[in-house]
Amino acid sequence: MTHLERHTRLFERIARPYSWFFAGQTRSYAACFEAAGSALPDPRGRRALDIGCGTGAFTAALKSAGWDVSGVDAARAMVSQAGRRGVSCTLADAVGGLPFPDKSFDLVSAAYVAHGLKAPERARLFAEAKRLSKEVVLFHDYSGKRRLLTDIVEYLEGGDYFNFIENGLDELKRAFSSVSVIEVGPQSAWYVCRP
Ligand SMILES: C[S@@+](CC[C@H](N)C(=O)[O-])C[C@H]1O[C@@H](n2cnc3c(N)ncnc32)[C@H](O)[C@@H]1O
Repeated sequence: MTHLERHTRLFERIARPYSWFFAGQTRSYAACFEAAGSALPDPRGRRALDIGCGTGAFTAALKSAGWDVSGVDAARAMVSQAGRRGVSCTLADAVGGLPFPDKSFDLVSAAYVAHGLKAPERARLFAEAKRLSKEVVLFHDYSGKRRLLTDIVEYLEGGDYFNFIENGLDELKRAFSSVSVIEVGPQSAWYVCRP
């Protein structure tokens, strides 16, 4: 089984408990849009795609900020939980390639997806987000600031957190024409990238 299959299987298993945090997560993401939303284009009349939308909390925050947004996720159980919360989400794998023509969206986002993928898969995620976006790609993910509890949780999750916080920004700078980093929480950042 590949790393990506193991990773997706994990989210198939934890979709229900993950959804219990939907309201709090959406509030916390909405606060990021209030603090840093001015770094993004005016959302009025603009389309966004949220990759790895999970139960849909970041997608819901994008919608509240004014974006016409839909999501995709590779785990069927996450897609189903998003649907229960009124978030439009379809089943698709960003690493394998998404079923949309080039530049279909004004903004493409992915919240806490990049650090979970191994570097070659992450490069595919970055390339796919870049292909689909006309204007901006937004990654909401960990900054380099560490906490023991996060280190333990991420070690147990078996993603690529330690490598991502060390090398993720350099990888983004290689993949995009420009990258701005905005700290939006004690351990989280917005990586605002231009295709
Ligand atoms: C940590 S969760 C974050 C979910 C949501 N963005 C949030 O902030 O609550 C990561 C999500 O990315 C999805 N994911 C991982 N790899 C993916 C891929 N290649 N294509 C689409 N979704 C993927 C997982 O299924 C999972 O739902």
